[in-house]
Amino acid sequence: MKIGVLGAGRMTEALAAGWVRAGHDVLVGGRTPDKAADLAKRIGARAGTLREAAEFGDAVLVAVLLAGLDETLRAAGAPEGTLAGKTVIDCGNAVDVSDFSQVTYDGGGSMAEEIARLAPGAHVVKAFNQAHADVWRMRPPVFDGHPLAVPIAGADEGKPVARTLITDLGAAPLDAGDLTQARHLEAMAIVVIRLLHSGAGPLSVFAFRSAAAEER
Ligand SMILES: NC(=O)c1ccc[n+]([C@@H]2O[C@H](COP(=O)([O-])OP(=O)(O)OC[C@H]3O[C@@H](n4cnc5c(N)ncnc54)[C@H](OP(=O)(O)O)[C@@H]3O)[C@@H](O)[C@H]2O)c1
Repeated sequence: MKIGVLGAGRMTEALAAGWVRAGHDVLVGGRTPDKAADLAKRIGARAGTLREAAEFGDAVLVAVLLAGLDETLRAAGAPEGTLAGKTVIDCGNAVDVSDFSQVTYDGGGSMAEEIARLAPGAHVVKAFNQAHADVWRMRPPVFDGHPLAVPIAGADEGKPVARTLITDLGAAPLDAGDLTQARHLEAMAIVVIRLLHSGAGPLSVFAFRSAAAEER
């Protein structure tokens, strides 16, 4: 699969390295060209502009800090339709770490819903936001003999690609509903982030268990 990535930070390095290892063709787009180029070289990917990454990918990962979301999507051409018809994975977290409160849009909406608003026609799926980047350096992310469950919430059209990208990292997708449910995944992540800030190890994760999950 061709995967474009918007952002050249820690999540991109952790996730995209695994996708390159799984055989995908990855183009890292960053606002800081040298940073994107260095990262791409380290993981065996290509580098380019944010717009090139948006145009390149059949799937596109958005991995930028919340403060840069709007600017990044505009630079990627999202409002003009560069992400239309594509699976857009949002791994971001909408949290104010000064008091661990949730940042929301338009009276309660999620970051993922904001991406869908800024990227008309994109099939947005929230995923990978619940665990520290170091978890994605585990090959595979297995805890007590179980692959990590990765909740996803978003557009049905985007879920097959999201599931593939999760299983390619050795984890297990867990369907948590449509895009309206992404706000709950963003809230759950704040529990983890607060614990990490309190000294919990980076490999701390929620571990979902159910008979149905084991069968998937
Ligand atoms: N790190 C984790 O453990 C973790 C885990 C789960 C979810 N997340 C979420 O994943 C997303 C990416 O996190 P990360 O750890 O990869 O972040 P990071 O290492 O800090 O990299 C952030 C990326 O966002 C860009 N960026 C930052 N501020 C910006 C601004 N104001 N305008 C435009 N671009 C800006 C940076 O651009 P430059 O390249 O120019 O610096 C960089 O490419 C965040 O939403 C974060 O909450 C992180």
